[in-house]
Amino acid sequence: MQTSWKELCSAVQGCTRCPLSAGRKHTVIGEGDLHSPLMLVGEGPGEQEDLTGRPFVGAAGQLLDKMLAAIGLDRSRVYICNVVKCRPPQNRVPQPEEMEQCMDYLRQQFVLVRPKVILCLGSTPSKALIDPQIRITRQRGQWVLRRGVWFLPTYHPAALIYDSSKKRDSWEDLKKLRAKLDELSLYPDREGESGNAK
Ligand code: URA
Repeated sequence: MQTSWKELCSAVQGCTRCPLSAGRKHTVIGEGDLHSPLMLVGEGPGEQEDLTGRPFVGAAGQLLDKMLAAIGLDRSRVYICNVVKCRPPQNRVPQPEEMEQCMDYLRQQFVLVRPKVILCLGSTPSKALIDPQIRITRQRGQWVLRRGVWFLPTYHPAALIYDSSKKRDSWEDLKKLRAKLDELSLYPDREGESGNAK
């Protein structure tokens, strides 16, 4: 039987499946349109997300908002979540066991939201959802279709803050995302809209 949002939220909030739970202030489940055709998946909560319980609210989140605006979208029209729901210490990359324990929650989020398109923000979600061997620098911007769902790996917004030379490629990926949303008529009221993320 399908888990409800209420059951999922209470399971995540009480979760002690991996050691990340010991260091958290808040779990960060996700937010946005619970029936969005587009899901954005990041790596895991950082400091601001841990403090607030909301995904992508720090510096990377502010850039993500601009990236969404550049393709005519905002947070209320997408669903944003992460591979792991608790902050890894010093924002390190989550370990395979931590991701494995948390994947069950992400799978339940897929079942509940039923997105048609998934944007993988950075290496961690791209490895977890597309291919464990993926090289984000080589394979970003290449669509992968799995069981009727389109996956697009791209850079994590934090990577664009550290290395602004990646912004050009990131913008190419955003345009591909916008084109796919238009092709599939997923946001008919936004068709043809775009700006510039830089
Ligand atoms: N980075 C992520 O991957 N996720 C967040 O929620 C915030 C920063």
